[in-house]
Amino acid sequence: MAEHPAYPVGLRLTGRRVVVIGGGQVAQRRLPALIAAGADIVLVSPSATPSVEAMADAGELTWERRRYAEGDLAEAWYVLIATGDPVANARASAEAERHRIWCVRSDSAEEATAWTPATGHSEGVTVAVLTANAQERDPRHTAAIRDAVVEGLRDGTLVAPHHRTRTPGVSLVGGGPGDPDLITVRGRRLLAEADVVIADRLGPRDLLAELPPHVEVIDAAKIPYGRFMAQEAINNALIEHAKQGKSVVRLKGGDPYVFGRGMEELHALAEAGIPCTVVPGISSSISVPSAAGIPVTHRGVAHEFTVVSGHVAPDDERSLVDWPALARLTGTLVILMGVDKIGRIAETLVAHGRSPDTPVALVQEGTTAAQRRVDATLATVAETVRAQGVKPPAVIVIGEVVKVGPGPDA
Ligand SMILES: C[S@@+](CC[C@H](N)C(=O)[O-])C[C@H]1O[C@@H](n2cnc3c(N)ncnc32)[C@H](O)[C@@H]1O
Repeated sequence: MAEHPAYPVGLRLTGRRVVVIGGGQVAQRRLPALIAAGADIVLVSPSATPSVEAMADAGELTWERRRYAEGDLAEAWYVLIATGDPVANARASAEAERHRIWCVRSDSAEEATAWTPATGHSEGVTVAVLTANAQERDPRHTAAIRDAVVEGLRDGTLVAPHHRTRTPGVSLVGGGPGDPDLITVRGRRLLAEADVVIADRLGPRDLLAELPPHVEVIDAAKIPYGRFMAQEAINNALIEHAKQGKSVVRLKGGDPYVFGRGMEELHALAEAGIPCTVVPGISSSISVPSAAGIPVTHRGVAHEFTVVSGHVAPDDERSLVDWPALARLTGTLVILMGVDKIGRIAETLVAHGRSPDTPVALVQEGTTAAQRRVDATLATVAETVRAQGVKPPAVIVIGEVVKVGPGPDA
């Protein structure tokens, strides 16, 4: 007789008795999902792995330290048989059959009445993969399919739009420093679901090329702003598209709240009654030095790092930065938007006590194919920037941490 395929089902086990026979590696692997399902678990086994024992100690299951005995399956809804003793396995399996209790057997898929699928989770969905019948069972293959699906959903390469729970309104997504691999899983998923993407110059622009043709991609720098400020025009564009019921992603470089005007956009959206989700991103202030081999802290070298905007010069009355105080600190200074003003910044730091020999590194277009690092000192940085033609975007790192890695030519 041809074997029929297994019938897939999701068991709702909350508060229901599940008996697990055997406390070894198989039980250790299966128990967390049974615990997560809220099952009332009874483990019957003379011994258990330290992890299983810890679950019993934590009150997540009841452990009866003995061998299986006839009658153990009374009142059970579901049974997992996983001992190394084939005779005990067969006896427990026969008891389960008599009582019509679905029974998984780790030693024999053919004799089991239920199989455990390879499972994974993504955004509120359980992905469960089963082979159709016992002859074709190939647990590695089912696990590989599970991994491919879950990974694809997580990184957005497999697009499954949410029809019921699509994120409404606008998502302010931190895209990371530029390398498309450095966006978060959540950011990538929201991007894959977007109808409209309003993107900055900085950030993972390569990802925009992958979007399906129906997605409207708008360059934030090119939104005409007429009588508005550029930022107001961007806010208005976000609001207008969201009001049309579209799912809008505002893709920003780094993290939306690190010199990113994320909160201004959030306020504007809140005023317009548009729901807004904020997805943090990897800020260039840490990741760009790291990509160039510079740790922002290092044991015995720097116990602090300070991230500063250098977009206005230290003597500019609009500056909110206490440069003399920064000069007195001994740790790392990370300066964003500082290429144009680095000469005045270096002079001010030296005038207030930092050594002119303090190492400086400028990392331009970090994490992209065009990344380059130029090293200098506070005394030489202004001239080096001119001579080497360093251009924004660049992260400037000042401090001894510049010297602890393999250096600019590594
Ligand atoms: C307006 S700020 C935005 C910072 C962003 N929100 C973040 O968290 O990285 C722009 C500045 O970030 C720095 N920056 C951003 N991405 C960079 C990259 N890939 N390479 C070098 N600097 C970068 C530069 O200093 C640039 O002028």
